[in-house]
Amino acid sequence: MTILDIIEKKRDKQELSKEEIEYFIKGYTEGTIADYQAAALVMAIFINGMTKEETTNLTLSMANSGEILDVFGDGAKKHQKIIVDKHSTGGVGDKVSLILLPLVASCGVPVAKMSGRGLGFTGGTVDKLEAIPGYKTGIDINSFIQNVENIGISMISQTLNLAPADKKIYALRDSISCVESIPLIASSIMSKKIASGANKIVLDVTVGSGAFMKDIEQASQLAKAMIEIGELANRETVCVLTNMEEPLGYAVGNTLEIKEAVEALKGNIPEDVKQVVLELGAYMIKLANVVNTIEEAKELLIEKLQSGEAFNKFIELVQNQGGDISYITDLEKFEKAKYIEPVYSQKSGYIQKINAETIGKLACSLGAGRIRKEDKIDMAVGIILNKKVGNYVEEGDCLGYIHTNNENTLQEAKSKMIETIKIDKQEKEPIKTILKIIS
Ligand code: URA
Repeated sequence: MTILDIIEKKRDKQELSKEEIEYFIKGYTEGTIADYQAAALVMAIFINGMTKEETTNLTLSMANSGEILDVFGDGAKKHQKIIVDKHSTGGVGDKVSLILLPLVASCGVPVAKMSGRGLGFTGGTVDKLEAIPGYKTGIDINSFIQNVENIGISMISQTLNLAPADKKIYALRDSISCVESIPLIASSIMSKKIASGANKIVLDVTVGSGAFMKDIEQASQLAKAMIEIGELANRETVCVLTNMEEPLGYAVGNTLEIKEAVEALKGNIPEDVKQVVLELGAYMIKLANVVNTIEEAKELLIEKLQSGEAFNKFIELVQNQGGDISYITDLEKFEKAKYIEPVYSQKSGYIQKINAETIGKLACSLGAGRIRKEDKIDMAVGIILNKKVGNYVEEGDCLGYIHTNNENTLQEAKSKMIETIKIDKQEKEPIKTILKIIS
C-alpha cells in the first residue's frame, strides 16, 4: 500500500478500508507522508465525503495516534468521578468555553479541557486564553492532571500527545480551505474528546452564517454522526444546536472576547451568550449527576454566576496556569489596538441581519485570525458590535467599533461592516438562540 494508492482511491470516490485510513494517519503523524500528499487526500475527502464506517475508523485512528488520557486513573472509579467534556463546532464571537467551564467547575464537576485554535473564519479558545499575559496553554500531561485534581479545572491547547494526528490535520485543513466537512469535523472533535478521557460529552453544534453548518439539516447530520461515534466509543454524547447566524455576544477578537467573558463572569452577560452557557452547562452538570433535572441545573448555574464563585474559579484557573490575574481584575491593563474607530448607521430602522461569517472574516483580515498555519495573531484587534438583530437604530447611531493596528485597513473594514449590517423599516424578532437538542 502507498499513499498514492489511497489518494487515488478517494479521488475516484471509492471507500477507504480501516487499514488504509490507519496507514495514512500513522504516516502523517510520524512525518513519512508529506503535507502536500495529506493535503491532496484531505481535499479528496472534503469533496467526495466518507461513509459512516470510514468516519468512525478515521476518528478512532486519530484518537489512537497518541495517548488516551485517564484523568483520575483508578481514582475516577474510586471517587466515581464522571469526566464531562464540552466542545463547539466553531463560531464567531464564541467565548462560551471561557465562561461555561469555570462555571461548571464551580459546581464541583471536574473540567479537563483541550481546546483548539482559530479555524477558518472562526475564533479558538486557545488563542483567546493566550491573550492573557503569562497564561500557558502548552503544559505537560502531569501538570494538566494535577491542575484538575487541585482546583477542578484546566484548559490547555493540543500540545500534549493527545490526538496529535488531529492537531496536524486541523492546521492543514485551516490552510487549504477544507474545514466545512461533516466527516472531517466529526472525526476532529470526537478524536480529541475520546483521547482526553471524557466519559460524557456535550457538544455545541453551531448553525448559520457564522458556523460551518449553514442550516439545521446539515447541523443535525453532523450531530448524529458525532453521537453515533460516541456510542461506539462508549461515550454518552448530547448535542445542543445553537444559532450562529449573527456573532455570539458583542465582541469578536481575542482580547476583546476575554474582556467580554470576564464581564460575563461578573454578571454582565449578553442574553444570547447566557442562553448558550446555561443550556450547555445544564446538560453537563446533569450528565455528571450533580442534579436531577435541567431546570434544577440552570438554577444552580445562575446561583454560581451570581455568587461570584464562577468568576473566582476563572481567576484560580488563570493563576494556576501562569497567567497574570491583575489583567483580569483590571481589564484596562490589556493592550488596546492603536485605532478604535466607530462605525455609524447610514439609515434608521430595525437590524435584520448581521452576517457572522463576514464579521469573522473581517476580524481575521484585521489580524485576529490566521491565513497561513504559522501566522502570528494580533491579540488586540477585532470588532465590537453595539447592536443585535431586532434592535432599532436611528441614522447616525453607532453600530460598533473596528479595533485595528493598521490604519490602511480602516476604511475598507468600516465599509464592510456597514454593508453586512442590514437595516430595514420592518420590525424584526431577535434571533432564537437554542434551536434543538439531539441525544
Ligand atoms: N472544532 C474542531 O475541533 N474541529 C473541527 O473540525 C471544527 C471545530
